Amino acid sequence: MASQPVSGPAARQGASDAIPAHVAIIMDGNGRWAKSRGLPRAAGHERGVEALRRTVEAAREIGIRYVTVFSFSTENWRRPTSEVSALFGLLKAYIRRDLARLKREGVRVRIAGTRDNLPEDIAKLVDEAERETIDNSQFHLTVAFNYGGREEIVRAAQNLAARVAAGDLQPSEITEEKFSTALDTRDLPDPDLLIRTSGEHRISNFLLWQCAYAELVFSDVLWPDFDETALRAAVTEFAGRERRYGAVTAGAS
Ligand code: FPP
Repeated sequence: MASQPVSGPAARQGASDAIPAHVAIIMDGNGRWAKSRGLPRAAGHERGVEALRRTVEAAREIGIRYVTVFSFSTENWRRPTSEVSALFGLLKAYIRRDLARLKREGVRVRIAGTRDNLPEDIAKLVDEAERETIDNSQFHLTVAFNYGGREEIVRAAQNLAARVAAGDLQPSEITEEKFSTALDTRDLPDPDLLIRTSGEHRISNFLLWQCAYAELVFSDVLWPDFDETALRAAVTEFAGRERRYGAVTAGAS
């Protein structure tokens, strides 16, 4: 395995498997895809859901075990209300339409992000998706929705601080491993590979803690066009990288 559910370079130093265990994806370019066709932005997001289905299938084919996708950020609330509603509608439709199949196929679904300001129907569906697939372990799909990396880190810090204040935890017990257990991704290994599509070269507040040692691959493909070929190209680029986790190359003097 390229990584284990334990954080930190020491846990994984020397690992350089050709197939990443965990791939995180910033699915960017839906708007440009739609605009170039004279379509509303929501049409790009709709096609983006199809690309997500294709990518999960391709990932399983390749042997990737964890995929985490960024589908609505805490900053995306600044978009027009119609686009926000479209993205909420797509998450609902995705869960309603795909949950039974994902469950049957052994996929465990998790939703990362804050539930605080989510509409009640979405919060319920998200809980249902997690509950219904909790016993699955063949493949792990995590959808980051209403998610921001800094917000997640602040929530984790607040959670640990509350435990210290209650006398359940000593400040000295807050290690990297302990901190990881307070994040939304607590049961997941750190991503080995982070892919961002559409030619943009930013992390945009996605999995800031978890991607400390991820290899970054930037694809020019717009997300609605992303497919198995594009995923394989990213994995090939990953396989050619040397992961040192701050150490030196094996055999170097
Ligand atoms: C970024 O492209 C994409 C998003 C903000 C949303 C991603 C959502 C999906 C792929 C579909 C939703 C999936 C689920 C499961 C709900 P952009 O709109 O910023 O594109 P642009 O940079 O070209 O404008």
